[in-house]
Amino acid sequence: MKFGYFDDEAREYVITEPKTPYPWINYLGNEEFFGLVSNTAGGYCFYKDAKFRRLTRYRFNNVPMDVGGRYYYIKDGDTVWNPGWKPTQTDLDKYECRHGLSYSKFIGEKDGVSSELTCFVPKGTNAEVHKLAIENVSDVQKSLKLFSFIEWCLWNGMSDMENFQRNLSCGEVEIEDSVIYHKTEYKERRDHFAFFSVNAPINGFDTDRENFIGLYNGFENPQVVEAGMPRNSVAHGWSPIASHYIEVDLAPGEKRELVFILGYIENAQEEKWESKGVINKTKAKAMIANFDTTEKVDAALAEIATDWKRLLGVYQVSTGDEKIDRMVNIWNPYQCMVTFNMSRSASFFESGIGRGMGFRDSNQDLIGFVHQVPERARQRIIDIASTQFEDGSAYHQYQPLTKRGNADIGGDFNDDPLWLILSVSAYIKETGDWSILDESVPYDNDASKATDLFGHLTRSFNFTVNNLGPHGLPLIGRADWNDCLNLNCFSSDPNESFQTTNNKMGRTAESLMIAGQFVLYGREYVELCKRRGVDTAEAEKQIDAMIEAVKNYGWDGDWFLRAYDYYGKPVGSKENEEAQIFIESQGFCTMAEIGKEEGLCEKALDSVAERLACEHGIVLNNPAFTKYVIEYGEISTYPAGYKENAGIFCHNNPWVIIGETKLGRGEKALDYWKRIAPAFREEKSELHKMEPYVYSQMIAGKDAFKPGEAKNSWLTGTAAWNWAAISQDILGIKPGYDGLIIDPCVPKDWNKYKVTREYRGAIYNITIKNPSGVCKGVSSLAVNGEPVQGNVVPIQAADSVNDVDVILGDAS
Ligand code: GLC
Ligand code: GLC
Repeated sequence: MKFGYFDDEAREYVITEPKTPYPWINYLGNEEFFGLVSNTAGGYCFYKDAKFRRLTRYRFNNVPMDVGGRYYYIKDGDTVWNPGWKPTQTDLDKYECRHGLSYSKFIGEKDGVSSELTCFVPKGTNAEVHKLAIENVSDVQKSLKLFSFIEWCLWNGMSDMENFQRNLSCGEVEIEDSVIYHKTEYKERRDHFAFFSVNAPINGFDTDRENFIGLYNGFENPQVVEAGMPRNSVAHGWSPIASHYIEVDLAPGEKRELVFILGYIENAQEEKWESKGVINKTKAKAMIANFDTTEKVDAALAEIATDWKRLLGVYQVSTGDEKIDRMVNIWNPYQCMVTFNMSRSASFFESGIGRGMGFRDSNQDLIGFVHQVPERARQRIIDIASTQFEDGSAYHQYQPLTKRGNADIGGDFNDDPLWLILSVSAYIKETGDWSILDESVPYDNDASKATDLFGHLTRSFNFTVNNLGPHGLPLIGRADWNDCLNLNCFSSDPNESFQTTNNKMGRTAESLMIAGQFVLYGREYVELCKRRGVDTAEAEKQIDAMIEAVKNYGWDGDWFLRAYDYYGKPVGSKENEEAQIFIESQGFCTMAEIGKEEGLCEKALDSVAERLACEHGIVLNNPAFTKYVIEYGEISTYPAGYKENAGIFCHNNPWVIIGETKLGRGEKALDYWKRIAPAFREEKSELHKMEPYVYSQMIAGKDAFKPGEAKNSWLTGTAAWNWAAISQDILGIKPGYDGLIIDPCVPKDWNKYKVTREYRGAIYNITIKNPSGVCKGVSSLAVNGEPVQGNVVPIQAADSVNDVDVILGDAS
């Protein structure tokens, strides 16, 4: 069952039934101010940091689900309704939520009145703008009463939820003209306030929640709205809100457009006040003036559309399959950008008060957006690398506001350092900017300890070399990519975190996932060394030794082992009772092509197909754990089929997909991708539950109570990795150091498709034909009609437009 449809032309997902199986959300803003908005206008907004600068209040895991947001109540006689259906849930004659690229539109119609609410964050502006159009589409005069509503958060998203002895006494507001200002804590230590304005005279207002809603009413029936009469309340403590009251009289066919702004302002210390106790509103008024007409608002909205057109224009495919095209051309790159902005901080599953930026997460996210915003990717790399330790290890997380490593979480996740090689090499391949390697970058943010970025990569590589276990395989530390495989933890205390508690840290537990990662990114490191004229003999020796170690101690007969535990016993082996096979080592060792000649990769991936794959994707391990294994940690705590215990953890599925492309199995690769790609799951929305336009972190696996049900949409490494898998490894357009590498791996029956790729300032119109029905191999390549040897399109002059003709077939 579907709850809407893709409008590819408009680049929107159009939700036509407000009762989606879960709130289906969108993100507003791409710079410093962000809003999360559900399909019923729920959600909240913040400036830079969802914990410390939260403008509006949101209650997670509330009953009913998703209440609190930007609400506009339209009272027409005795009927009260909202353009986004909630919170009144009055049946609408028409409802549509159009989630577009950085904006959302709500179209509601009731009893001859139609409304359209458009929400977005204009460029260079720290505000949400809400354009509300109300039209009388009936043939009688309408006298409507309009009430706006938002609820202020007292800035700190955490204390706002817990410190009521203080909170309920400190709220303060000011009202001037049609603007409601929120100035809690402004007179003491804050240099910022927020406001909610409308570009029209108002007929009243409310700023105190109890006055507006009433202690015994809810968002769905505020007493002021029911009475049709504002109370002009001024909040003193308790819960400050902002509500404008406007009388809207419309003749038949008449339309009225209003612009509301929910903004954030910072004032320098000496400019804080206009007069005693009265805040200086100069900047707020300037911001309001920027959007005081619908023309100005429409222009700002058009600017965002232009930006997205340019960003998405970097890679456009036309395969003839609309689902593939809409994932590749619109939604996957869009999700990658949101993940870049948010890391893992603010979604409807991440409360915005927990995690900072993950070292490994941010490096991996980069492969999903580097082609869109290379300059920002460069800065991100420097920020991440600046938190690395001198021995090459890394803080697991850093804080976005301070850009410093997070000491509470610490380090010792031994996969972390190697991801830096992935992000840096991806950046150079995209941009050709080798100068980044010469950039001086501190260790642990201490400028007295700095080397060039290349030195950081050397230390990343050497960290693994210096931390090998008894089999010559990498020591796992606290965990590798799988946060929940805690082989040194031995936790029996329910009050401690698996990720941060004291570990035994023996030097026995080894990871085959890191082994594959070391070979894969180690080779990348060697390539960088060669191009810098650095001797690679030692590094190559280490990589060869790792390959041998994997073949000798990491092969279980039909697949790669996952690890050795604290006691030196194999993990992910047919010897084990549960969890005999894991996905991560199959993915990484086959991406690294370890033992490919001997047939190990093929065998390993056949085992994946047999044991791990199911209708909804590839599960993480099999059989699922049903018992707590203290020497394995958190992984064995989850119920079977969920999260890291045999869930379909979508982030790692593309590793297998890419592994399949290394074997040239185009059908399998695409088939696996389609199982998890959200556009292909749209028809199953009732089961899948999450948005059909973005990936979720997890889909319940075959051992779960409800296989196929997804959770944790939006902020996941799945976005970046699937982008890489589909755009580079399946469709086969890969940035390289010397040009665009053309290396598709597609189903045999694909006979033709086209990709337009903007790369290093030039445009490449690539046509790929497959006359002999192969999966892989380029038999001929021509650039602007000239034949080119091999499969690399040499870099063409900036601003040139080039035709690239590719024929798949026997490469020899
Ligand atoms: C979460 C974490 C990521 C980790 C994954 C597997 O997505 O953000 O860092 O690799 O879980 O445990
Ligand atoms: C939990 C989650 C895992 C995530 C980790 C991050 O362990 O299960 O997915 O990576 O927290 O701290």
